[in-house]
Amino acid sequence: MERLVASLAVAWSLWVVSAVSGVQPPHIVFIVADDLGWNDVGFHNPEMITPNIDSLARQGVILNSSYVQPVCSPSRNCFMTGYYPYHTGLQHKVIQSSIPGYVPANVTMLPQKLKELGYATHAVGKWHLGFCNWKYTPTMRGFDSFLGYYTGAEDYYTHARGGGFDFRSNKTVARSYSGFYSAMTFATRAEEIIRTHDKTKPLYLYLPYQSVHEPLQVPQRFEDMYKSIETTQRRTYCGMVSALDEAIGNITQALRDSGLVDNLLLVFTTDNGGPTYAGSNNLPLRGGKKTLWEGGTKGTAFVYSKTLLQKLNYTNTGMIHAVDWFPTILHLAGGRPDPGLDGVNQWDMLSRNSPSKRKEFVYNIDDLANNSAIRYICVGSPRYGDLKLIHGKPGPYNDWYPLPRLDEDIQVDKKKWPLYQLYNITADPTERHDLATEFPDLLASMKQRLEGWRQSMVPAHYPPEDPKANPQNWGGVWSPGWC
Ligand SMILES: *[C@@H]1O[C@H](CO)[C@@H](O)[C@H](O)[C@H]1NC(C)=O
Ligand SMILES: *[C@@H]1O[C@H](CO)[C@@H](O)[C@H](O)[C@H]1NC(C)=O
Ligand SMILES: *[C@@H]1O[C@H](CO)[C@@H](O)[C@H](O)[C@H]1NC(C)=O
Ligand SMILES: *[C@@H]1O[C@H](CO)[C@@H](O)[C@H](O)[C@H]1NC(C)=O
Ligand SMILES: *[C@@H]1O[C@H](CO)[C@@H](O)[C@H](O)[C@H]1NC(C)=O
Ligand SMILES: *[C@@H]1O[C@H](CO)[C@@H](O)[C@H](O)[C@H]1NC(C)=O
Ligand SMILES: *[C@@H]1O[C@H](CO)[C@@H](O)[C@H](O)[C@H]1NC(C)=O
Repeated sequence: MERLVASLAVAWSLWVVSAVSGVQPPHIVFIVADDLGWNDVGFHNPEMITPNIDSLARQGVILNSSYVQPVCSPSRNCFMTGYYPYHTGLQHKVIQSSIPGYVPANVTMLPQKLKELGYATHAVGKWHLGFCNWKYTPTMRGFDSFLGYYTGAEDYYTHARGGGFDFRSNKTVARSYSGFYSAMTFATRAEEIIRTHDKTKPLYLYLPYQSVHEPLQVPQRFEDMYKSIETTQRRTYCGMVSALDEAIGNITQALRDSGLVDNLLLVFTTDNGGPTYAGSNNLPLRGGKKTLWEGGTKGTAFVYSKTLLQKLNYTNTGMIHAVDWFPTILHLAGGRPDPGLDGVNQWDMLSRNSPSKRKEFVYNIDDLANNSAIRYICVGSPRYGDLKLIHGKPGPYNDWYPLPRLDEDIQVDKKKWPLYQLYNITADPTERHDLATEFPDLLASMKQRLEGWRQSMVPAHYPPEDPKANPQNWGGVWSPGWC
């Protein structure tokens, strides 16, 4: 009851504000590309054919220091909750289909907050934040509707993985989408939401695309755009990026046709760095998906708005982390985050190129993999610059992987790594010179800082696989009901 009164009070004050100023909170379209690497969009690499993405980015603000987690579920946890995964138990790997993993039920997700503020909320695409119990699924966590899949990856056409089907409309299994490539299906659903949206309400559309995660599959016409690329993996991957680009073109056309574009913030971000072992590329950055290197964590991202950004068409170098979207979007919606959140409101940085509110962040603290990394901009005297401490093995892929020209496997790195590494990201953004032995005092103070962060860690929740999850127990469908 108290909550209801509080939310009514917020809704009322918001109504008063909008009634007085005549301004409705903006529509928010939040697009997550899956496994898109640094070097995999036209605005970073002219070989890529992404005219729609490039044009939105250039009419908006390109983010050059936008950090995400090394893998899928943890990044989505950040977007939806504003907490680092090491505070929600999601810091180790991803939520595997047969493991009862989830964002804990007591953590409020962004759409729940936005609904209290009068938003219509819709999710289209990949969930990957838990489904072993209905209470972890999107329509139980603040979304009015959902079209998509609960697990982390599947066939783009059959929507099957590991012996089970995984595609739903709200909570209902939706077999009629079989046979259709998901990039088109999700664009069509997004367009439908946009075109039928009741304009007296603000819209929050969360679009976590399947593209461009494995398996490498794309309709031929997209692959044909890259005839000059000889490597099959890379050619298909690039085609997938162009299919995503066409989908975004269709969705933005719907935003223009419906008029929603006149009061809109569009966010585009990858969920993690590119999997260099599956056609992606992160040059000049080191490493890739599944690693704490910049190639795994410095994400391709931009924001676009016709009306809300005071400075446009430039590259913003301010530091922003995936957890910051929650309080930033909530601020735009007229709400306030609960105290204790890891994210900070970065609207001044995004809209006016003001300095970032962030001087440091946690890449991850993984108590099961025994690795972690933090970042700290040391602005005291002397000014040591923008430092990164890595503890433990950064991950399985540790090189500067060239654009593939031949189909060859990238070998998993089994080398032993020093216990601590220290990089100066200002002078060395591609992490070539480990300074740990050269600056023992700096190393000691960074270690102390990491230990400070670690104090608040929640142990990783990564239980063993549960045979009850097997789709054979659920009519051949990955389904809730086993935790
Ligand atoms: C962005 O700025 C560049 C010059 O820096 C200019 O060539 C380009 O036309 C601008 N793009 C837009 C969409 O304004
Ligand atoms: C953006 O980041 C890339 C990769 O670290 C770097 O090469 C480039 O100089 C940066 N651009 C700006 C404007 O800082
Ligand atoms: C959720 O519950 C856990 C365990 O009781 C607690 O440690 C955590 O602080 C709670 N989180 C929130 C956001 O309330
Ligand atoms: C999903 O739920 C929304 C909101 O209740 C409803 O409008 C929509 O019709 C539902 N979709 C399906 C396919 O049931
Ligand atoms: C974009 O829209 C065109 C025209 O309706 C359609 O032919 C195409 O399949 C759509 N592409 C995607 C990726 O949704
Ligand atoms: C992490 O460290 C613990 C304790 O030293 C060890 O038992 C475990 O095998 C290590 N895990 C990995 C993935 O290296
Ligand atoms: C890091 O690089 C910056 C820029 O080159 C430099 O000013 C700073 O002294 C460097 N810090 C260390 C510890 O080398």
